[in-house]
Amino acid sequence: MAFETLEWIGGIDGCLELIDQRILPGRFEKLQCKTVEQVFDAIKTLAVRGAPAIGVAAGYGVCVAMQALPPRSNLTAAAEHLEKNAAYLATSRPTAVNLFWALDRMKDLATRFISENSDVGVDAFLQALLDEAHAICREDKQMCKAIGVNGEKFIKENSGILTHCNAGALATAGQGTALSPMYEAHRLGRKFKVYADETRPLLQGSRLTAWELTQAGIDVTVVCDNVAATLMKQGKVSAVITGADRIAANGDAANKIGTCGVSILAAEFGIPFYVAAPSSTFDLNIKTGDEIPIEERDPAEVTFFGGNNVAPEGVKVYNPAFDVTEAKNITAIITERGVINNPCYQSVFEHLK
Ligand code: MRU
Repeated sequence: MAFETLEWIGGIDGCLELIDQRILPGRFEKLQCKTVEQVFDAIKTLAVRGAPAIGVAAGYGVCVAMQALPPRSNLTAAAEHLEKNAAYLATSRPTAVNLFWALDRMKDLATRFISENSDVGVDAFLQALLDEAHAICREDKQMCKAIGVNGEKFIKENSGILTHCNAGALATAGQGTALSPMYEAHRLGRKFKVYADETRPLLQGSRLTAWELTQAGIDVTVVCDNVAATLMKQGKVSAVITGADRIAANGDAANKIGTCGVSILAAEFGIPFYVAAPSSTFDLNIKTGDEIPIEERDPAEVTFFGGNNVAPEGVKVYNPAFDVTEAKNITAIITERGVINNPCYQSVFEHLK
């Protein structure tokens, strides 16, 4: 990619640097997070967003948090400090399971390191944590690439692909999940059109997906969210590809609010609906999508638009950030390991075992 969505700068005393996605596409600015509160705020306010990118940020967030460890602390105090800060970061956003997956990985590494190295200094512990965060970041890039390779066959010559929200490079450390097959198809010289739902209320489709596809020279058209049915009726959509924030054991997939409606439309018009996500997005502790916690966000995201009030002051607002697409409306889930056709308990377990 022509840009790094997030990366670590320096060694154990370094910091997390990320593209501030709150101000794209108007301004391209990097934000440096040097405290755990800054990482928490960046995740909460969507400076960094998208399930895999949130996971990578959380891994590095733990490394930033460890820099505030009081001088001359021992390994036991370091482990307690890590536990406390991981618990804090876990409260930043509830839906994307990658956040909890990455924090669990950092905590597991800490437990392993401490049981195997009782007589080393804290710096060696901090280095091991940074190595683990780098591994999460590196693996995310590899998973994105593999999802693209496994999914490019679904993008046919001269087709029209509809996507919702942003599950591209800006949502991961690599080349994205839903947009990764598009990057691969483009690399292979295939011609296709992408329709990007603008994705109210925070416009990740028009602000972010359209921005990154334009950078890559991919033909993209922004549509209002309520145009999807018309496009499908006109025969302009050959396939829908979206990302996911959490996939239950039966294949139900949570993604940005509005995705469920698009999946129902796709089923009605007989259009294949694909979900692209790494295996870190599956939550096998959850049987169905009904158990996925759905984040509700600030009403002001709905009542203000471009700095203007677009609803009467004090009006009631319901602002869920995600919804659940039922497995029955998902043609296939594309992961870094391959493709799960007609996802259900059996095919999901078979694929991940
Ligand atoms: O609220 P956001 O912008 O974090 O929501 C992002 C999405 O819904 C993405 O589609 C999802 O996280 C997959 S990102 C590869």
